[in-house]
Amino acid sequence: MDNATNNFYDAIAEYYPLFYKDWETQLEREGLGLKAIFRDKGVKRVLDAACGIGTQSIPLAKLGYDVTAIDPSAGMLQKARQIAIEHDVLGEIQFEQADFAHLSEKVSGEFDAILCKGNALPHLLTDEEIEHTLYIFSELLRPGGLLILGLRDFEQFMEYRPRLLPGFVHDYEDENQQFITFDVWDWDEGPPVVATQNLFIIKGIGENYKTIKRTVSFRPLSLDEVRVVLLENGFEEVHEQPDRWEQVLVARKPE
Ligand SMILES: C[S@@+](CC[C@H](N)C(=O)[O-])C[C@H]1O[C@@H](n2cnc3c(N)ncnc32)[C@H](O)[C@@H]1O
Repeated sequence: MDNATNNFYDAIAEYYPLFYKDWETQLEREGLGLKAIFRDKGVKRVLDAACGIGTQSIPLAKLGYDVTAIDPSAGMLQKARQIAIEHDVLGEIQFEQADFAHLSEKVSGEFDAILCKGNALPHLLTDEEIEHTLYIFSELLRPGGLLILGLRDFEQFMEYRPRLLPGFVHDYEDENQQFITFDVWDWDEGPPVVATQNLFIIKGIGENYKTIKRTVSFRPLSLDEVRVVLLENGFEEVHEQPDRWEQVLVARKPE
């Protein structure tokens, strides 16, 4: 895992809940959405392979699933543990620190399901890294186990390559301050094409605002490209699952 990506997530971990309109509602939605995907599939043991601050792991633990949550960013893991305490599930989640390439050093299969939500896979910039990660996921899944990938579908951006994307505005009346985010994207023609997100976080009130900028890169994959890569790497029954936040692909390891 490259240090730039880790530095980005370490730096934004404390702000991460603010990237959703309503963080607590998002947790509830993630839990219910995944429960619907797992229904009648015999899912008990789940590996959250890019857990971040626990957006999926925490609601799943609350719903009684056996959750192992891994992420390479120490900052994201620290925030995840803090939120797990607030939700009274710290003891229900096994937290580990590793990137995809080193997953097998921290956990062993078989898992009934592996999650990789929140656009984590596109941080891998080469075909080889993506294929190696799918191989590791497959090794850790039981036959018939599910892989759930949550992604931003970059297809819509590829023609016009937008530079400016709006984020969120939160007004904190209790703290008497406002919090605003937006992105400026840089496009590198490659090959492969790489999109760099410059995330601006602005905090303040009245005429005094302070700006933080943090940068991270993505391989701007389309959902169709990911679908094909999954099939080429031995997964089957690849289908899209409705999700309000991102595009979600569910795939199955053959029996
Ligand atoms: C946008 S966050 C999503 C976290 C969480 N799943 C969610 O939906 O909120 C992306 C996460 O991917 C992790 N990540 C980035 N590169 C990774 C890699 N090579 N291996 C594993 N995780 C990675 C980051 O540390 C970060 O926590």
